[in-house]
Amino acid sequence: MAMNEGDGHKSYAKNSTFQGGVTEASKEIIEEEIRKKLDIGNISSTTIRVADFGCSSGPNTVNAMQIIVESIKKKIETKLSVSHEMPEFQVFFNDRTSNDFNTLFALLPSERQYYAAGVPAQFAKDLDSFLKARAEELVDGGLLAFIHGVEPNANKDTSKITLPSFELLGSCLVDLAKKGLFDISKVDSFNLPKYFPFHDELKALVERNQDFSLERMEILNNPPKRLTNPDPKSFAMFMRVLIEGLLQNHFGREIMDELFQRYEEKVEESGLLSDPNENSLMALVLLKCKRMTRSYTDNEVIL
Ligand SMILES: C[S@@+](CC[C@H](N)C(=O)[O-])C[C@H]1O[C@@H](n2cnc3c(N)ncnc32)[C@H](O)[C@@H]1O
Repeated sequence: MAMNEGDGHKSYAKNSTFQGGVTEASKEIIEEEIRKKLDIGNISSTTIRVADFGCSSGPNTVNAMQIIVESIKKKIETKLSVSHEMPEFQVFFNDRTSNDFNTLFALLPSERQYYAAGVPAQFAKDLDSFLKARAEELVDGGLLAFIHGVEPNANKDTSKITLPSFELLGSCLVDLAKKGLFDISKVDSFNLPKYFPFHDELKALVERNQDFSLERMEILNNPPKRLTNPDPKSFAMFMRVLIEGLLQNHFGREIMDELFQRYEEKVEESGLLSDPNENSLMALVLLKCKRMTRSYTDNEVIL
């Protein structure tokens, strides 16, 4: 499901400070890696293309694209002779077809240094197919960065992994079922498509792909939610803009206000936001495309 649309108080655009903190925490790494690893030595193309997969409709993608475009420009300016013409930049904003691209385009600064295009589509169904598709699109030596939630390696006993914020939401759903708003079986059949691999697991998944070399992988030092969403109201709204669409499809639109009102109260009672150990660990993975390094079998044809 796409994030909540528009720019009102229940929108993703107004409730994505946590994700904004993740972008900011990646800034230095992205700038450094572009400076060190982006191969512009024999830049012959007059166009540089940058894409954001899963851009949503808030200010974070605008910031992320600005960081990338500025870093590449800076590198070109310092590395190439003054007579070298600056290439044209094209930025492709990709998300699900239901994403609110209108709000996103209204947020793009008029003085931006790139041409922008919205590319609604499904980018892939899992990490393997995502990487396979990106390998087809990227130029040799092109960089791909992505951010993924992870569990730290130390926490190997999967039965001990808890997601208190989601467990609280589950208990609110049970309360509403007990109140008779829907059948309890609906809670059991609700599937939250969320997956946080272990750090090592994610690394292994990436390394088995032969189209990319792993250049860097590290856990970001992003501000935790208790700082980006310090009060129960803003924390409840942070959760709402992420999963309201999914919940609406299963439980119906009419229960959403009551559900999130109850959630806000439970967040307050639970002391969730004062837990100093609460943090969602986010890993930044940087890959470089190394096409044609695979060993091909006899019946594989390379076009
Ligand atoms: C949590 S939001 C992050 C948005 C933005 N990058 C940011 O940092 O604020 C994740 C976005 O990925 C999009 N998304 C998830 N799976 C997708 C897929 N298979 N194809 C296209 N977009 C997808 C969602 O619609 C959502 O807008």
